[in-house]
Amino acid sequence: MQRSIVEELGDRLAAPEEFGSEALVACDAVVRIFRSGGVEVQALQGLDLLVHAGEMVAVVGASGSGKSTLLRILSAADAPSAGRVRVGRWDLGALSARDRVAYRRTVVGTVRQQTARNLVPYLTARQNVALPLTLAGAPRRQRAARVGELLDLVGLADAGGRRPGELSGGEQQRVAIAVALANGPRLLLADEPTGELDTATGQQVFDALRAAQRDAGTTVVVVTHDPTVSGQVERTVAIRDGRTSSEVLRRPRPGDDGAAAVVAEEYAVMDRAGRVQVPREYREALELTRRVRLQLEADHVTLRPDGTGGTGGTGGSGGDGGRAAPDAPARRRRHGAA
Ligand SMILES: Nc1ncnc2c1ncn2[C@@H]1O[C@H](COP(=O)(O)OP(=O)(O)O)[C@@H](O)[C@H]1O
Ligand SMILES: [Mg+2]
Repeated sequence: MQRSIVEELGDRLAAPEEFGSEALVACDAVVRIFRSGGVEVQALQGLDLLVHAGEMVAVVGASGSGKSTLLRILSAADAPSAGRVRVGRWDLGALSARDRVAYRRTVVGTVRQQTARNLVPYLTARQNVALPLTLAGAPRRQRAARVGELLDLVGLADAGGRRPGELSGGEQQRVAIAVALANGPRLLLADEPTGELDTATGQQVFDALRAAQRDAGTTVVVVTHDPTVSGQVERTVAIRDGRTSSEVLRRPRPGDDGAAAVVAEEYAVMDRAGRVQVPREYREALELTRRVRLQLEADHVTLRPDGTGGTGGTGGSGGDGGRAAPDAPARRRRHGAA
C-alpha cells in the first residue's frame, strides 16, 4: 500500500522512539565510513529510509552517492558503522554469523548489475534456479515445480534448458531474478540490474521485477540510472552525499479515466532532526547561504534569504525547531553492542 511522505513524516513526529516500526525496512541515521590508508570516506552520512511491505522503490543518485553501499548493508553483505538498520524482525547491525547466513538465505534476494556474476555459467537456467532450493533442502519434486513457476514468472518458461552463454543479457538478468526469488525472500534488492542492457531488454527485466512485486508479493528496492525504470516506479528515492535528499511519488491522476495517466510529485525529505536539503538551484537563485529566515505560517513554512550579508545578528525568527542547519555534520552514533 502506498503511503504519502507526509503521513510518514507525521508518524515520525508522533512516535520518534519507534521510527518506522510499521515499515518492512527501516534505516535510521545510517552511517558507513570506509577507511583505507588514512583516508576516510563517508559513504552513508545519516541516511533515513522507510520501505513498506509490498512496495517497489527505485533508488537514484550520482555515482558515488552511496547506493551500492546501502544495498550491500540491506543484504547483510556489509554492516553499518553507526545507525540502525532493521528488515522485518532482523536488526542488521547486530547479526550473529549464523543469523547472517539465515537472513541472506531466506529474507533477501539480490541481483547484481554484472549479468555474468549472477549465474553459474556451466549450469542451465533451470539448474541455476534450483541451486538455492537445493541448498535450502527443498525436496526434489517440490523443487522442480517451484523452478517452473519461477521461470514462468520472469517470462522464461521455455528457456530452462539453456546455459547463461546461450541467453541474452536481459534473459540472464531475468533468470537471476528467478534465482533471487527461489527461497521466497520478503525483500528483493537489485543494483542497477539494467545497467548493461539496452532500453527494450531493460524493460523486460523491469517487467520481471514488477512480476516479483505484484505476483509474488515481494518488496523490491532497485538502484537504477535508467529513466525508463525510475519513471515507472511509484516511489523514487534520491540519494545525495550518503543521505536521502528527495522523493518522487507517482500516482494515478485523480478523476482521470485514462489508465496510463500519472502525476509525479517531488518532495524534499526531512530527517528526524528536522533537516531538509535545499536544492542547489534554489540556493543559488536566492543566494541562500549559511543563515536563512524560517517563518511558520498557518499551513506552511517560508524560507527566505537572511538579507544581512551573512554575518552578525541573530538572523531568522522561525518557530520551534525553526533553524536550518545546512552544514551540520552527519550525526554519528556509535553502534552499541547492547
Ligand atoms: N569497500 C570500499 N572501500 C572504500 N571506499 C568505498 C568502498 N565501497 C564504496 N566506497 C566509497 O563509498 C562511496 C559510495 O560508493 P557506492 O555506494 O559504491 O556508490 P554508488 O553505488 O552510489 O555509485 C564512494 O565514494 C566509494 O568510493
Ligand atoms: Mg553502485
